Amino acid sequence: MITAIYPGTFDPITLGHLDIINRAARIFDKLVVSVVMNIEKAPFFDIDERVELIKKVVADLPNVEVAFSIELLADFARQYENPVIIKGLRNHIDYEYETTMAVFNKKLNSQLETFFITAKLEYTYVSSTAVRQLAAYGADLSDYVPKIVSDEIDRKILNGR
Ligand code: COA
Repeated sequence: MITAIYPGTFDPITLGHLDIINRAARIFDKLVVSVVMNIEKAPFFDIDERVELIKKVVADLPNVEVAFSIELLADFARQYENPVIIKGLRNHIDYEYETTMAVFNKKLNSQLETFFITAKLEYTYVSSTAVRQLAAYGADLSDYVPKIVSDEIDRKILNGR
């Protein structure tokens, strides 16, 4: 069995991420969405909130699990039999960054292959940062995130986070 790992900060998960999850879940036996603590980013949602939100968003996908990791991705992957990494590519900037990361991860864990899935055209400009910025101005988020996520963002902003 091949386990695909889709890592990211997911702060918050967007429709672009969900598109990659749906497509990868059709290809691989099992997909683990791994919420990774990114030491370079101050989060809007804490890690538990992000995991819970993603679980709700992927509830209808039986072969998708959600986990969190504080380890190097290359080490996190070792707990799975035949792991591979999935990354979405939106543009040439992602390509340059992700191919470098793939080389790092291969050096850290020689068994680990990285597979790239190209983003759908309508999601090539979506990012979690853009979503957070739009949310801060009260903009409509329905083109960018699942409704569960925009409701949770609204709730958090109303409650002063
Ligand atoms: N649709 C929409 N948005 C997408 C997307 C898609 N298909 N693919 C990427 N993005 C967005 C993300 O939301 C993110 O937006 P943000 O910067 O506004 O938050 C941005 O593009 C970058 O995404 P990604 O490249 O997946 O980075 P990330 O910050 O979400 O996650 C990790 C990076 C966590 C996967 C990476 O840092 C990691 O593996 N860390 C673990 C430690 C480690 O092993 N490091 C490597 C050692 S060299």
